[in-house]
Amino acid sequence: MTSSFIVAIDGPAASGKGTLARRLAATLGFAHLDTGALYRAVGLTLLRTGHAPDDAVAATAAAQGLDAATVLPLMNDPALRQDAVAVAASKVSVVPEVRAALLDFQRNFANHPPGGAKGAVLDGRDVGTVVCPDAPAKLYVTADVEVRARRRLSELRNTGAEAIYEAVLEDMKVRDARDSQRAVAPLKPAVDAFLLDTSMMDAEQAFVAATDFIRSRPAFP
Ligand code: DC
Repeated sequence: MTSSFIVAIDGPAASGKGTLARRLAATLGFAHLDTGALYRAVGLTLLRTGHAPDDAVAATAAAQGLDAATVLPLMNDPALRQDAVAVAASKVSVVPEVRAALLDFQRNFANHPPGGAKGAVLDGRDVGTVVCPDAPAKLYVTADVEVRARRRLSELRNTGAEAIYEAVLEDMKVRDARDSQRAVAPLKPAVDAFLLDTSMMDAEQAFVAATDFIRSRPAFP
């Protein structure tokens, strides 16, 4: 039993869920956990130790070795945002033992948010379906794949990286397929999730719609 109010936000890459989750957490005074960063941390560990991203044994060992002391300082490390790390994260995330190893950390964060916050916002792929199936507020944030590819392209160009739209779109489709077709905890909306399609929305409109939904939930503190 927990008294923490949990906001679960799931959705595909570049749907806007990360930006939304951070802003919601800041506004509501809740703690925020980017669960994708945990998978990225496992992927980065493999790349740094010279293992292939699809080495399931090494990925499991890396996931089992992560704890709050190693993970939390990594959260803002720009290395986590590299495309090679995103691809490695997507590959390690199909390994059931990796997912199992990261589950306790996520649930513990949700139920006992750091700093005594009265709630937590977690964003990822399976927060509402697997990690926190009893969360009182679940959102599924999505957008057309072309819209998401254009957003990712401008993010990449803003960091000075050279990027081609067609290549970004292709990568996005491959990652979507891997995330939604894997056997364990595939990306899909929870049956009781509020669907937020941001294809035609800017960040402000998405934030207003999400806030209205969350505040309308009966258990909202
Ligand atoms: O949200 P992101 O791009 O940082 O996620 C990177 C990868 O991690 C994503 O392709 C799939 C995986 N992931 C997952 O399987 N489950 C989550 N809850 C979050 C991310």
